[in-house]
Amino acid sequence: MALPSVSGKSDHWGSRFGFIMAAVGSSVGLGNLWRFPFTAGENGGSAFILIYLASVLLFGLPVLMAEYALGRHGQRSAIATLRKITTEEKKPSAWVGMGWLGALASLILFSFYIVISGWVFDYIPQSFSGAFSLFSDEVELLNANIGQSVAVMNEQIKSVHLSGACSFVSDGVITRVAETVDGAEVLRDISVGDVSACRFAETTGNKLEIFIYTAIFLLLNVIVLARGVHGGIERAAEILMPAFFIMLLGMVVYACVTGDFAGAANFLLTPDFSKVTFNTVLAAVGQAFFSLSVGSCVMFTYGAYLTRETSIPKNAALVAGADTFVALIAGFAIFPIVFAFGLNEAGGPGLLFVTLPIAFGQMPTFIGAVFFTLALFAAFTSAVSLLEVGVSWLEDQKAIGRVKGAIGLGVLMLLIATGYIFRGDLIDHADFLSGTVMLPLGGVLIGLFAGWVVPKHILIKELGDGLVLNGVLFLLRFVVPIAISIILIVGIVGKFS
Ligand code: PHE
Repeated sequence: MALPSVSGKSDHWGSRFGFIMAAVGSSVGLGNLWRFPFTAGENGGSAFILIYLASVLLFGLPVLMAEYALGRHGQRSAIATLRKITTEEKKPSAWVGMGWLGALASLILFSFYIVISGWVFDYIPQSFSGAFSLFSDEVELLNANIGQSVAVMNEQIKSVHLSGACSFVSDGVITRVAETVDGAEVLRDISVGDVSACRFAETTGNKLEIFIYTAIFLLLNVIVLARGVHGGIERAAEILMPAFFIMLLGMVVYACVTGDFAGAANFLLTPDFSKVTFNTVLAAVGQAFFSLSVGSCVMFTYGAYLTRETSIPKNAALVAGADTFVALIAGFAIFPIVFAFGLNEAGGPGLLFVTLPIAFGQMPTFIGAVFFTLALFAAFTSAVSLLEVGVSWLEDQKAIGRVKGAIGLGVLMLLIATGYIFRGDLIDHADFLSGTVMLPLGGVLIGLFAGWVVPKHILIKELGDGLVLNGVLFLLRFVVPIAISIILIVGIVGKFS
C-alpha cells in the first residue's frame, strides 16, 4: 500500500471488497430506483435507455476513471487535489474552480436527496401497516359510491385519507376520474393507481412527518461520516449493499411473474427514435452522470482513499456495470406494474412511490417494508458520498475535524431541505440544475482537465499505459467535451424555448 504523504489522506479503504461496496454504494441509489424509472418514463422509454447506455460508456466511464485517477494521485479532497496538481505542474489555478463547482453540485444534490430519502423512510412503516393490501377492495367500494360525501367515505376507507389531493375527489364528494383521451375528456372508473397516487400525495403533504424522517436520515449520515472512511462509510456499505442486491432480485422475479412483463419489455426494449429530441439526449446524459456519481468530483474523494494495488480501469468498469444493471432491473420491477394497472408511464417523481405499493399490496406485508428499507440503505450509501465531499474538504483544508464538519454541514443541509418540504416543486428545479446541468458540465471540465492539462505520465501511473489509456484519453479529450457541450447548449435552449 502506498504510504500517503504527511498532508495526504491517512484513512484508506480497508479492503478491495470494502472499496467496491462503498463505490457501488455511492453509485447505486435513488438515481437507479427513483430517478431512472421516472426519467425513462417521461422520455419515452427504450430510445432514452439506449442513449443512456451509450452515455454511460462514452461519457460516464472515462470521467469516472479520470476522477479516481486524479483523486488517488492527489490523496486529498477534490479541491485540495486540484490545487496540488495545478501548483506542482504550474497550470492555471482557475482549474481549482472545477472543484468548487463539484462541491456546490454535490451539496445541492444532497439537499434534496435527503428529502426523497425521507419519503422512502416514511414508506417503511406505511408498508408495515398493511394499508397497501386494502387498495384493491377499497377501490371497488369507492366506485360503488360515486357521489357520496368524503366525510362518509372516510369512515369506511382505511387505505388512504380522502381529501382534495385525490384525483377522484372534487367538491367534497367522490367522483369518477377525468382523463383526456385523443384530445377529448372522458370519465373513467377510479383505479388502484389513483388510490395509490392519493396516498403518495398525502405522504408528501404531511410536512412535519417528512421533516422528521429527513432529519433522522440526515443524522445517520452525520454519524457515519463522523466515524471516518474505513470505520464509517466502508463498514456501512459492506453490510447494506449485499443485502440490497438480494432483495432487488427477488422483486424483479415477482414483478415479471405477476405484472405485464411483455408490455414492460416492449416499452423498455423497442426503441422509437421519433420521440427523441435534444432534451431527451440531455436527460439521458444527466441521468448517466447522476447515476454513476460522476461530474461533481465526488469520486476524486473516493479515489483518494484507494490503495495502489487497486486497478482503476477494472474497478471503474465493475462499478459502472453494477450501477447500470441495477437501473435496468429497477425498470423491470416498476414498468410491468405500470402497464398491468394502466398507470401513466410518464408519472414523474412519484412513479416509484405509486407503482410499487400496488404490487406490495398483493404480497405479505413485510416484503414492502423490507424493500423500502433496502432502498433507504442504497440511498444512504449514496448520500454519504455526496456529503463526504464537503466533510473531507473542511477536514484537510480548514483543519475542521470530521465530527464538527459533518455536524455543521448537516445543519445547513437541513435548513435547505426544509425549504423543499414546503415547496416540493423546487425539487424539480434543483434536480435539473444539479443533476442535468452541473454534472455534465463538470464532466466536460474534468475531461478537458484530465485530457489536456494533467501531464500524461500521471495518468499512465494511475491507469496503466496501453490501449485502455489511449481510448480513455481520446474520449476525455474530444468526445466528452465536444459532444456534451453541444448537448448541453442545444438541450438547455430547447427546454426553455
Ligand atoms: N449516484 C447516486 C444515485 O444514483 C447519486 C449521486 C450523484 C451520488 C452524484 C454522488 C454523486 O443515487
